Amino acid sequence: MKILSIETSCDETAISIVEATGDFPNAEYMILGNSLRSQINLHREYGGVFPNLAKRDHAAIITTLLKLTTTEANLPGKPRTLSDAEKLNLAELLQREHDLAQELINYVEGEGLPDIDIISVTTGPGLEPALWVGLNFAKALSFLTKVPVVPANHMEGHIFASLFKSNHLAPVSFPAMALLISGGHTELILMPSWHQYEKVGQTRDDAVGEAFDKVARLLGLPYPGGPEINRLANEARTLNLPEFTKLPHPMLDSDNLDFSFSGLKTAVRYAIEGKELSATDKQAIARDFEDVVTEVLLHKAELAINKYGVKTIILGGGVSANQNIRDNFADFFNREYPELTLYFPDPNLSTDNSIMIAFVGHAHAGQAVPEDQAINLRAEGNKAHRRIAPGTPLFQ
Ligand code: KG4
Ligand code: ZN
Repeated sequence: MKILSIETSCDETAISIVEATGDFPNAEYMILGNSLRSQINLHREYGGVFPNLAKRDHAAIITTLLKLTTTEANLPGKPRTLSDAEKLNLAELLQREHDLAQELINYVEGEGLPDIDIISVTTGPGLEPALWVGLNFAKALSFLTKVPVVPANHMEGHIFASLFKSNHLAPVSFPAMALLISGGHTELILMPSWHQYEKVGQTRDDAVGEAFDKVARLLGLPYPGGPEINRLANEARTLNLPEFTKLPHPMLDSDNLDFSFSGLKTAVRYAIEGKELSATDKQAIARDFEDVVTEVLLHKAELAINKYGVKTIILGGGVSANQNIRDNFADFFNREYPELTLYFPDPNLSTDNSIMIAFVGHAHAGQAVPEDQAINLRAEGNKAHRRIAPGTPLFQ
């Protein structure tokens, strides 16, 4: 089964073609083609993701990415002249995506579409305007190819991304617990078995990635802040810098599984307010902040695994790229819970990508929506600005 997967939930546009041989979860996956374009430079000056800008950029680049992926996958299509009725239908499906309908028409008539079996597209969660681009593009491709569409959950994608090891999904002993930490989410998801998900903990305010991004902004570092904080914190550890400030450890003493990171961010703000920060001050603050976040995540993960008798722990989402979090999770769980299996995503699959969306498509191929009904699929997103709203104050 060849899966064409599309991801446009936030500020990465991505398209892959993945071939699955065998049944989920034991299939072999070959990544035939993959293209991803990050919009980071576009959003950097705003210090966060601007949904309508994201939408426009997804629409502007998505046909090019389809072309790149198809070429890499060596699945050239046959050029085909479209009827007026087909063109009209495409114009209607893509009426909100500016020039996308015309670009797609040109592509189909000039080069043709790859031969695929199923389309899988992120329908949520994410930024609603951004999600619609991918979804409408998927509907248009489905209309043209008569291939069914699987609506994919982005967070499930992050779980599969963590499990993907050398062309297979790694074995999972259940119950498993996924700790998903990204720019928009911080949640503990209990998995009693495949396809069963129960949210047992989540953030009450900011997501972890959001906290990284906001603290980075306080320190004058560019967006996205996670990798920047990670880099400075590592420098502070190498230099063995003393603590800059005592930060609170939010929710550490409570035995529920919820998180809260907004107070931590505010504590950083108070600690630096009115001070002229040197380069070493910034390194120390980044390290102090990262240490607290790591400690809180570890503590909540330990509570969760004990509460539910968890056998596999799956760390996923953009923040799981963080080296300190990875190292501490690996050290702690190998030492204290050697019988437990811990999975992290390959660094290339930590942040948003479409390969993980192909796995979701394969896992739910049985529920694929036929071409004539795909038109009714809806994006399940958030209209509001995710992460830092450009132009709005950091602290309300
Ligand atoms: O999963 P993702 O790519 O997008 C969402 O679905 O949100 O996650 C992006 C988030 C951003 O907040 C970014 O700052 C954070 O992941 N991030 C990191 C690191 N790399 C990315 N946070 C901490 N350390 C990193 N190395
Ligand atoms: Zn994500």
